[in-house]
Amino acid sequence: MKPSYILGIETSCDETSIAVVSNTKVLSHVTASQIKQHEAFGGVFPELASRLHTENIGYVLQTALKQSNVPLSSLSAIAVTRGPGLIGALHIGLQSAKVLAASLNIPLIGVHHHAAHLEAARFVQPILYPALGLIVSGGHTELVYMPGPLRYELIGQTQDDAIGESYDKVARMMGLGYPGGPIIDQLAQTGTTQYFLPLPKANGIFDFSYSGLKTAVQSLIQKEQQAKRIINQHNLAFDFQKLVIQTLIDKLQLALKTYSVRSVIIGGGVSLNRELRKQANQLSQHTNIPFIFPPTWACTDNGAMIALLGGEMLKAGMIDSLSLGVDPSWEIQASSQK
Ligand code: KG4
Ligand code: ZN
Repeated sequence: MKPSYILGIETSCDETSIAVVSNTKVLSHVTASQIKQHEAFGGVFPELASRLHTENIGYVLQTALKQSNVPLSSLSAIAVTRGPGLIGALHIGLQSAKVLAASLNIPLIGVHHHAAHLEAARFVQPILYPALGLIVSGGHTELVYMPGPLRYELIGQTQDDAIGESYDKVARMMGLGYPGGPIIDQLAQTGTTQYFLPLPKANGIFDFSYSGLKTAVQSLIQKEQQAKRIINQHNLAFDFQKLVIQTLIDKLQLALKTYSVRSVIIGGGVSLNRELRKQANQLSQHTNIPFIFPPTWACTDNGAMIALLGGEMLKAGMIDSLSLGVDPSWEIQASSQK
């Protein structure tokens, strides 16, 4: 069988990332990160993100193609993030993908960003179905049941802030940098319990809620400042993180009692978190169910996961027309194989 070479384009947030992938083999992977430019805003500034994607995409594409050593004429398909994400940012990736697909006369494949975060586990090992997926990123917190390949059923989600967003907002309140997740994770390593914070509670059994916890951290910081007490940042990071990770583990435990699965996949930027990995491994041992994390480099946004899922979709005949539009709030189950 002729090998397939998929070019994947990711521009949903603050990384312009393009890769050439053949099945699970990454032939090239180039990312232009905008983190430094967004730092001053303490989060991603959408208009600036679009402008920077426009500036960076040409060079990123050229470099990814060159490094892959795959001639343009050998590409099998162009996969691109169709949503969810920032509307202006998504448009830049999709328009570039359309021009490439049209000029090379090869299929265009619109990929769901969250599904790709889960499918990135394939870089480590094949997915054992049925599976349970947990997406923990800057924009989303979702629990997904995966009955079979390319099928996703949303069973729980955040009712307010996403988990990564809550890390980033709390880090900003504490006067730390952006993105806040890795900084809080690092501080918490040398912290201990000191501050009382409430365990977040959501309405639906598999849902999440983080805005109450964020407000509680804000009130605590104000109270300590008024009392002229210096906040121990290590301990505050520890107490905040303990509760955030506990909500994830509690929901996973509950979901594993309801859904009989053969594997659990945890993807998205927050899946890099050390406490989450530690507790997830303990739960894996306890339940005897393998928990798969994508490789570290593939946990945050990247074009390789888009190409990887695009390759699976191509095999399943899931290709799009050149009139495809972006969908900033595309739901994961709507991207399922019919
Ligand atoms: O998946 P991702 O790269 O982008 C989105 O699709 O949103 O996730 C970025 C998020 C940021 O909010 C960042 O703070 C968080 O992932 N993050 C972490 C860690 N590393 C990145 N959160 C907690 N602990 C970490 N070690
Ligand atoms: Zn992401």
